[in-house]
Amino acid sequence: MDVTANGVSTRVDTDPERPLLWVLRNEFGLTGAKYGCGEGQCGACTVLIDGVAHRSCITAVGSVAGRAITTIEGLADGEKLHPVQQAFLDADAMQCGYCTPGMILQSVALLRKNAAPSEAEIRQHMEGNICRCGTYNRIVAAIQDASRAMLTDAKEHEHA
Ligand code: FES
Ligand code: FES
Repeated sequence: MDVTANGVSTRVDTDPERPLLWVLRNEFGLTGAKYGCGEGQCGACTVLIDGVAHRSCITAVGSVAGRAITTIEGLADGEKLHPVQQAFLDADAMQCGYCTPGMILQSVALLRKNAAPSEAEIRQHMEGNICRCGTYNRIVAAIQDASRAMLTDAKEHEHA
């Protein structure tokens, strides 16, 4: 089957039931997606599939053939970080960083469907992503900052 990660399509010869997480990490060397619980309960392995956040530990690789997968490695635009990545850095929204790729991709998915979420909407959307270091408040602040930055950017583009 062909698996497309971060815009690059690669032929993969593997059991279609194998979790996407292991194909990304072991075949593609995309180790940004982390193994936490392996049961869809922590969000450490989150990736985007056609722009929607999915837990790659419980996603069979056979189900994503031909779909666009984005991992944390594919989020920046060349040297320019994605606004959510930048906001996490600026807000210091990480401690050990293990949950961070999943948190960022989960946030990107949120802002894609709701450009200006309320704090309650952010907390609800991020509920399934666990941070063992307890940086939740800074994560929420980072998402709010990213939302503002992206809206300002969109407005500037409109008027350019
Ligand atoms: S490792 Fe996938 S949700 Fe925890
Ligand atoms: S920063 Fe350590 S688990 Fe979230």
